[in-house]
Amino acid sequence: MERTLIILKPDAVQRGLLGRIIARFEDKGLVPAGMKLMHFSRDLAKRLYAVHEGKPFHPGLIEYITSGPVVVMALAGPRAIEVARKLMGKTFGYEAEPGTIRGDFGLSTTYNLVHGSDSPENAAAEIALFFRPEELLKYDRATSPWTIKPGES
Ligand code: RTP
Ligand code: MG
Repeated sequence: MERTLIILKPDAVQRGLLGRIIARFEDKGLVPAGMKLMHFSRDLAKRLYAVHEGKPFHPGLIEYITSGPVVVMALAGPRAIEVARKLMGKTFGYEAEPGTIRGDFGLSTTYNLVHGSDSPENAAAEIALFFRPEELLKYDRATSPWTIKPGES
């Protein structure tokens, strides 16, 4: 079982899309391990996006992600990092395939509704930015035995 860090970005909150986006992850079988509503400080945003420091879009990205509340979630499931990124679709809405979150809900370069970790190392570091270990819950959903065959990893 793997964990990934998902952020529902300010445009998802402002457009009232939280429920519909969370439903995509929930429908797939990914299980929330932690969830919180936050408004990022610039300091926190810069730590999250340190990998993009120096890129031309970095200042705009920091403006965007600090512009309003966001929902931060740790989601658990088999190959959760890859599965979540497939559900999200390509970075830019106009390139993302229909059927994906970005493909169905957006057309923008910057405003792309969701963030998802892109590697196990980054997932661990990003989850640790937002959640203390005791805030991450391990539990089985009632439907788990029929979503993932017992004994499968
Ligand atoms: P994310 O990190 O948010 O999951 O998105 P990603 O991996 O698909 O894309 P990444 O390359 O990591 O870019 C981070 C975010 O920066 C904004 N962006 N703007 N103007 C531009 O060329 C540009 N490129 C990226 C997007 O909000 C993107 O999600
Ligand atoms: Mg990224």
